[in-house]
Amino acid sequence: MIPTGVDSLDSPVNRSPADLRPRTDGRLVSSQVWTHAKGDGMTERVALVTGGASGIGREICRALAADGRQVAVADINETGAAETTAMITEAGGRALSIPMDITDSDSVIQGCLATTDELGPIDILVNVAGWDKFMRFVDTDEDFWDRIIEINYKGMLRTTHACVPGMIERGWGRIVNIASDAGRVGSSLEAVYSGAKGGTIAFSKTLAREVARKGITVNVVCPGPTDTPLLGEIVGANDDGERVIGAMANAVPMKRLGQPEEVAPAVVYFASDGASFTTGQTLSVSGGLTMAG
Ligand SMILES: NC(=O)c1ccc[n+]([C@@H]2O[C@H](COP(=O)([O-])OP(=O)(O)OC[C@H]3O[C@@H](n4cnc5c(N)ncnc54)[C@H](O)[C@@H]3O)[C@@H](O)[C@H]2O)c1
Repeated sequence: MIPTGVDSLDSPVNRSPADLRPRTDGRLVSSQVWTHAKGDGMTERVALVTGGASGIGREICRALAADGRQVAVADINETGAAETTAMITEAGGRALSIPMDITDSDSVIQGCLATTDELGPIDILVNVAGWDKFMRFVDTDEDFWDRIIEINYKGMLRTTHACVPGMIERGWGRIVNIASDAGRVGSSLEAVYSGAKGGTIAFSKTLAREVARKGITVNVVCPGPTDTPLLGEIVGANDDGERVIGAMANAVPMKRLGQPEEVAPAVVYFASDGASFTTGQTLSVSGGLTMAG
């Protein structure tokens, strides 16, 4: 039985990002057992997925677990994270709910520490948590810009900053960032979000170069319009939402929205042992909306 929550954590004052590095006290943690290669060549490495409580993140958690990974479902929505964890354990996988607010550095560090304590070192980091609201740029204000950037860009920086040192020390890591086609080609009513997602793509390419000789890959998956609670919220909050969504779907060569489970396989590939020579790449999963060279 995998415990949930962070009850086993030491007092935060005694913990630091350095604790995310491999143990040197000789104690065998669970992941050191679980990361041994299985007969099929895959390993049961630990994956931490932010935004795992809902939509695309939930399906990524389920797909990684089905691929044999232990999954830390990290989200500010603890109820949704527990639901995702239950789905995985009921299907025979291994998962742990981790309360985490990616806009809060301490919350990110404590969540990563809880994952490391309960499952083992984080070898796979998938940054999915995100948020947006349709607004014309001229109608936005600085509070809105800050919220978009804190969640969609700086949240990804915080988790990555917490996890990369341990990956470097272990000489293995997979980072997959969920951006958006909006960050590649722009999207009306999503100017600040598009900028944050474009920043995620550029950051990922640069980090990929910095860690390329450390056994770590960094790649980006860009969903197109995908049928999730976030999209429903965006549409519901906008007078013109239904028309905008109709136009979005119409722009997709396949003439429909994507489903979250159609995004997850791309992440499973980038997170796999076999994707060891693929880094700094940006893959759109958008029914042909963005056919970037
Ligand atoms: N749905 C789409 O059409 C679409 C298109 C392109 C890109 N994306 C991106 O895909 C990702 C997932 O979106 P989704 O549509 O599945 O949305 P969703 O709302 O269903 O899921 C997003 C999750 O992020 C979590 N989250 C939000 N703020 C957080 C915070 N501060 N700390 C921790 N968790 C937080 C939410 O609780 C939620 O569980 C996002 O990065 C989004 O920008 C979505």
